[in-house]
Order: sequence, then C-alpha cells, then structure tokens
Amino acid sequence: MADVAGMRSPYRSSSDTFDIDDLASKDPFKQFESWFELARSHPRIEEANAMALATATKDGIPSVRMVLMKGYDHSGFQFYTNHGSRKSSEMKENPSCSIMFYWEPLKRSVRIEGKVERLSEEDSTVYFHSRPRTSQLGSSSSQQSTVVESRQSLKDRYEELVEEFKDEDKIIPKPDFWGGYLVKPSSFEFWQGQTNRLHDRLKFRLKKEDETIDPKCTHEATDDWVIERLSP
Ligand SMILES: Cc1cc2nc3c(=O)[nH]c(=O)nc-3n(C[C@H](O)[C@H](O)[C@H](O)COP(=O)(O)O)c2cc1C
Repeated sequence: MADVAGMRSPYRSSSDTFDIDDLASKDPFKQFESWFELARSHPRIEEANAMALATATKDGIPSVRMVLMKGYDHSGFQFYTNHGSRKSSEMKENPSCSIMFYWEPLKRSVRIEGKVERLSEEDSTVYFHSRPRTSQLGSSSSQQSTVVESRQSLKDRYEELVEEFKDEDKIIPKPDFWGGYLVKPSSFEFWQGQTNRLHDRLKFRLKKEDETIDPKCTHEATDDWVIERLSP
C-alpha cells in the first residue's frame, strides 16, 4: 500500500472562530452565497462552481462525479447534463441526492442534501443556446456514459456536426437527451477547517413537523430552517 499518511497541510482558517453568531446569514442560501462569492473571487480557486454530485440507484448503490453548478437561488442549485447518463438514470429512479463543494485554499466545504427535479425544456433550451457553439456541438455529439468503440468514433461524430453547423447562423437544436436539473435542499452543512482539527460544522436543516426545539442545541433560523453545531 502506498503510504501517504504523512501528507498533512496546515489548515489555516480565515477566522479563528466560526460560530452561529459568525454566520453571514441565518438564511442558508444567503450563507452559501457569502461563502461562494468569496471562493469565486479567490485567486487560487479556478472553478468555485465545481461540485461533487452523489446519486444512488433505488437499491441504494451510490455513485459520485463532478459537475458544474450553473445557477442558484432559493429554489435550489442548477446543473446540466445528458438525460441518458448514469447519473440521470439514477436521479430518475431515486431523486434523493447530495452535492458538495470543497474550496481547498479556504479550507471550507458545503454539503447539501435534497431532492432533484428536471428543469423545463424551455429553461434547458435557453441555457443550451447561451453556451459556446463548440460546447453545444460537444454535448450534441456524445451519448454520455455509454461505451464507445474509440476516441476516433467520438471525433468523427463531432466533426460531422461541425460540418453540418458550419454556418454560424444555423441554430444548433438542443438535443432531447440534454438538459438541466435543480437540487432542492433539505439540509446544508457549512464546514470550516481549523488547524487543530477541531473543525467547525454548522448544519442547517428543515424543521420537522411538530418538532420541539431544544434551544440549548438547536437554533431557529429563517423560515422553516434550524441550525445545529455538529461535532467534527
Ligand atoms: C470539474 C468537472 C466539471 C464537470 N462538469 C460536468 C457537468 O456540468 N455536466 C456533466 O454532465 N458532466 C460534467 N463533468 C463530467 C462528469 O464528472 C462525468 O464524467 C459525466 O457527467 C458522466 O457521469 P455519469 O456517468 O456518472 O453520469 C465534469 C467533470 C469535472 C471534473
């Protein structure tokens, strides 16, 4: 076994303390925005919108991959993919999923859990046409997650489409097999690494129906959300 146990990095935190009162907002979406904007402007973070997306079959067999978050608001977090891909077939049979951002230079991560739903064809079409033509052609040429004979066969298909749409005025139609999804969160965990490994973990979750709150550990947040500190 390759021994990498000695790999250690000092987890300098951006603040020495991170407690419920230090949150930018008691609205988890606004709290996300405050961390995301910082990550986005960080010179050492190129793709602050890159997130791991975990899905599972209906029998609970998990799989995870990276995708790019393309928008967020109080309705949820959007990304785009191929509806025939492995992730999409898993999301179809089991809409529970989880996404995670990790911003290494900040030693921060955000874990979100919730249910996913497909965006409308209209929204997906608008986004599809906002992408560079090369990306539109790339998505149109690939049956994502299927086995292919060779790289050459992919290139051939791509080149066929380049030829077909070489006239810049010719609109590339959004393929039916491509579109967006919205992850609607039921919990958010904000994780701040600390040098002494006593990391901070603040979790927002939706209050359960008829739940009695223990004010020592559970703090009311905006709308139906509560905040709790988890042990690292
Ligand atoms: C940083 C990064 C961003 C990615 N963004 C996307 C994306 O937005 N949509 C997508 O379908 N695949 C994206 N991919 C590729 C996926 O990780 C994955 O290979 C692909 O979606 C097939 O996954 P599946 O077979 O589990 O469905 C990205 C990969 C990386 C490393």
